[in-house]
Amino acid sequence: MVSTTALSVLAALLLLAAAGAPASAAEKETRLRVYWHDVVSGGPNATAVQVAEAPSSNASATGFGSVVVIDNSLTDGPNLTSRLLGRAQGVYVSAGKDNLSLFVAMNFVFIDGEYNGSSIAIIGPNRADPAVREMPVVGGTGVFRFARGYCQLRTHWFDAKTGDATVEYKIHLRHD
Ligand SMILES: *[C@@H]1O[C@H](CO)[C@@H](O)[C@H](O)[C@H]1NC(C)=O
Ligand SMILES: *[C@@H]1O[C@H](CO)[C@@H](O)[C@H](O)[C@H]1NC(C)=O
Ligand SMILES: *[C@@H]1O[C@H](CO)[C@@H](O)[C@H](O)[C@H]1NC(C)=O
Ligand SMILES: *[C@@H]1O[C@H](CO)[C@@H](O)[C@H](O)[C@H]1NC(C)=O
Ligand SMILES: *[C@@H]1O[C@H](CO)[C@@H](O)[C@H](O)[C@H]1NC(C)=O
Repeated sequence: MVSTTALSVLAALLLLAAAGAPASAAEKETRLRVYWHDVVSGGPNATAVQVAEAPSSNASATGFGSVVVIDNSLTDGPNLTSRLLGRAQGVYVSAGKDNLSLFVAMNFVFIDGEYNGSSIAIIGPNRADPAVREMPVVGGTGVFRFARGYCQLRTHWFDAKTGDATVEYKIHLRHD
């Protein structure tokens, strides 16, 4: 038998725990859309540079093992000349041996607009074939503290000759 005293102590502890818990009612929801410009061509103008590849990458159709470091522009419209909202800084790695699939780890660092000074962290898989890909948002800073959510990616434009691409990111976040 659990005594009445034990139950009331438990109830008091639960109340204390509830008081200390984060106010989930105050949680905000934000949806945003940016365009991510992967510029691998243009020599010194490139914002995506391959820094490593597997010794046997010539034998892999997917470039398995290649590592690309990016400082890509994030704009509010699909054109590279659209308003610059921030930069996508991080890496992507060709992580699929038989199918083209990237491991992506990057921060979206906002430098203009209503999110200036804030950032979100995205880590996830990015397969080449589906028209819509999804990656998780695992955290954030500034107005995006405690952020979690996901982004949906659609290729807006791709130049097969240069490898340059523009990808639309629709981002859905919950945060403090
Ligand atoms: C780099 O960008 C500048 C300024 O937009 C342009 O004039 C130049 O032609 C570009 N260089 C290359 C190699 O594309
Ligand atoms: C890959 O490159 C290495 C070294 O350059 C070469 O010995 C090998 O034959 C190449 N393999 C293929 C499949 O092209
Ligand atoms: C971006 O805008 C410039 C100038 O307005 C235009 O010449 C170019 O074709 C546009 N690029 C794309 C990919 O829409
Ligand atoms: C890789 O692609 C092939 C052919 O498109 C497909 O049959 C296979 O299921 C894919 N494998 C994975 C792990 O997605
Ligand atoms: C963005 O924030 C930085 C640092 O707070 C500030 O210096 C800069 O002027 C801001 N940019 C815009 C366009 O508001």
